[in-house]
Amino acid sequence: MGTPLIVVEHVDFAYQDTLALEDASLVIQEGDFVGLFGPNGGGKTTLLKLLMGFLSPKKGKISILGRPPQAMGKQIGYVPQHLRFDRDFPISALDVVMLGCLSKLTWWGGYTKESKEKAYQALEKVGVSHKALAPFGTLSGGEAQRVLIARAIVDTPKLLILDEPTSSVDPAAEQSIYNLLVELNKTITIVMVTHDLQTVLDKVKRFLCVHRRVTSFQTKEICEHFALGLYHTPLTSTQHFSF
Ligand SMILES: Nc1ncnc2c1ncn2[C@@H]1O[C@H](COP(=O)(O)OP(=O)(O)O)[C@@H](O)[C@H]1O
Ligand SMILES: [Mg+2]
Repeated sequence: MGTPLIVVEHVDFAYQDTLALEDASLVIQEGDFVGLFGPNGGGKTTLLKLLMGFLSPKKGKISILGRPPQAMGKQIGYVPQHLRFDRDFPISALDVVMLGCLSKLTWWGGYTKESKEKAYQALEKVGVSHKALAPFGTLSGGEAQRVLIARAIVDTPKLLILDEPTSSVDPAAEQSIYNLLVELNKTITIVMVTHDLQTVLDKVKRFLCVHRRVTSFQTKEICEHFALGLYHTPLTSTQHFSF
């Protein structure tokens, strides 16, 4: 911890007339594990897209390791909120991970031996290498999510961004995916959108509430009101209700 990885300063972003983020400022340190929460439409996905350089601020500035997000390329791994594959499409788990290595194709368009090895190692890291050759469509929700995490980390990014990583998995798989993320956080900074504050309370190191503006919370400041959709600024320590 110590070096700022991400600095967002006074950022405004609007889609046509919809103001999605207003005067958003935040700092994320290297090694952090940040949970993003907030109401639907609060701007969480928009913030992630700005961090990845898919969108640009209308006002304000974003820098990652002192450079614009667009310059980060493979240094950011992303697990999107919805990634639908045709269940019958004949693609193996290993192939899905290798999609994360598209920049390293050989001149005839094949994957290098090195890419294949790296993809296999990424599957090992997330605990599903035994499913490497299984058709992706036959995997359980939890296994499929692990494969998508492997795809995001195959190029050893500095930052891993996940948008509601457990929205399509059962509660048991959910816990084990959060445990995997805690393990990955030993070497990668993680920013994750989550609605399940109680479950991640002992997993993440800090929370950011995105409600057009961005407010930072320590885990001990997270209040049971938030689970009911009642977001407010941090209360003093004697007033707050913790889970
Ligand atoms: N592509 C888009 N075009 C127009 N408005 C959008 C688009 N994406 C998101 N919005 C609007 O921007 C606001 C923030 O959305 P979003 O970042 O997706 O919120 P969250 O991820 O917190 O649910 C919402 O009002 C949403 O309707
Ligand atoms: Mg969203």
